[in-house]
Amino acid sequence: MYKINENYQKLPGSYLFSTIAKKVAAYTEANPDKDIIRLGIGDVTQPLAPAVIAAMHKAVDEMADAATFRGYAPDLGYEFLRNAIASCDYQSRGCDISPDEIFVSDGAKSDSANIQEIFAQDNRIAVCDPVYPVYVDSNVMSGRTGTYDAASETWSDVIYMPCTMENGFVPEFPKETPDIIYLCLPNNPTGTTITKPQLQEWVDYANKVGAVIIYDGAYEAYISEENVAHSIYECEGARTCAIELKSFSKNAGFTGVRLGYTVVPKDLKCGGASLHGMWARRHGTKFNGAPYIVQRAGEATYSPEGKAQLKEQVAYYMKNASAIKSGLQEAGYTVFGGVNAPYIWLKTPDKMTSWEFFDYLLEQANVVGTPGSGFGPSGEGYFRLTAFGSYENTKKALERIRKL
Ligand SMILES: Cc1ncc(COP(=O)(O)O)c(C=O)c1O
Repeated sequence: MYKINENYQKLPGSYLFSTIAKKVAAYTEANPDKDIIRLGIGDVTQPLAPAVIAAMHKAVDEMADAATFRGYAPDLGYEFLRNAIASCDYQSRGCDISPDEIFVSDGAKSDSANIQEIFAQDNRIAVCDPVYPVYVDSNVMSGRTGTYDAASETWSDVIYMPCTMENGFVPEFPKETPDIIYLCLPNNPTGTTITKPQLQEWVDYANKVGAVIIYDGAYEAYISEENVAHSIYECEGARTCAIELKSFSKNAGFTGVRLGYTVVPKDLKCGGASLHGMWARRHGTKFNGAPYIVQRAGEATYSPEGKAQLKEQVAYYMKNASAIKSGLQEAGYTVFGGVNAPYIWLKTPDKMTSWEFFDYLLEQANVVGTPGSGFGPSGEGYFRLTAFGSYENTKKALERIRKL
């Protein structure tokens, strides 16, 4: 008789966005005439940049000709893409990362969920609270998180680092020493980030205590402030303690195209074991490469035209972000984020819980957002709106919220 992975049974409820989708579907069914504006899930709405589309068309044509057809991609990804990444995302910023330390993948969600596989079962993980739920859930699935306490919505073997209004959304060094530290900066969902000197302190801490940092830079393209690092490798010593995850979803609108990468420096070693070698082994065995057409699309994001077009796209979303932020502030809300990330994090009014505010906004303004508590216990009493809608819908949603 087979047995299941019992850890899956421990997962509370369904994935956050499935719950939201079900609630919105039920409301829409009961109110088919309502015009719902979705500022909930962090999905982009603008079409792919012309430079990306042109590269994809060209790559499709290559696939139609036996002389230029491509089958399986190389394990780490095509060199043309890894060279562009190393040069534009790292070397141009003074980061010492070489193309063969970059692993091209189908996105940061899978990498952020899979990376825990190369670590021992009894590692203690630390996460910012609130944060992108995949880090904790993937560790639950692998049995690393202990038992769940429904009252506090916490796992016994997870170290939570609250990021709230009170500490300016800056995670503090935990009292217990973690082995694996997940940092998502700029942060989803709070839209806030930390300065480069503050990040340097985390790198120094990880090197001192012998921890590894899993650094998720999915929103790096939205950084607008000077004193914020675009990569953890801008910090001294990061090569010996950090793995960096990146995505093309938010900077280039690839949520449906699927492309990302993970950097595992060769200096990252645990005893005699090279984490780079382990991840290469894992990648080679369990992943068969991002499509050639998509990797060419990724390469096009680094061309001069591609860069200029993506800059405009990011500016479009950030215009939404500042409209949401100032609109909500004028309406009397306490609001965070929206400066270095396309997320606005607001304090729910009148001591409403996150889910109460979700229902209130859905029913009274027909606007969908995301309850803060879905990202961790310290997210209770907060709410996330995304800047990824169209400008017209964003303005319309704001007008409705301001009328409440
Ligand atoms: C912090 C963070 N990491 C990773 C992802 C997923 O990225 P991808 O689309 O590359 O899988 C998201 C998506 O919302 C995210 O917010």
